[in-house]
Amino acid sequence: MPVLIYVENNGTSHQVEALNGQNLMQVALKNLIPGILGDCGGICSCATCHVFVDEPWIEKLPMMSETERFLIEGIPETQAGSRLSCQVKVQDSMDGMIVHLPKEQF
Ligand code: FES
Repeated sequence: MPVLIYVENNGTSHQVEALNGQNLMQVALKNLIPGILGDCGGICSCATCHVFVDEPWIEKLPMMSETERFLIEGIPETQAGSRLSCQVKVQDSMDGMIVHLPKEQF
């Protein structure tokens, strides 16, 4: 069971166990981690689940879809590790991954 580390914008860190097949948004909501809204329920249409994956993990994640890329382009503040957390499914290989949360979702 991989362990993920979510870091809020204020530096507060949350270390949680995740199940394979869940997405990063579901893991955050299930563990009551603030900073992710997930308004559309994970169907890739709202972008209120935006996160910044820590740099070493960026290349290890599955590629983003055209829809995810389009939605991220509409977010005011993005970084190289910007992803929509509902579109990233947990795998064992993500054990120890750090996911930063933005100051706010728009
Ligand atoms: Fe809406 Fe991720 S929850 S795009």
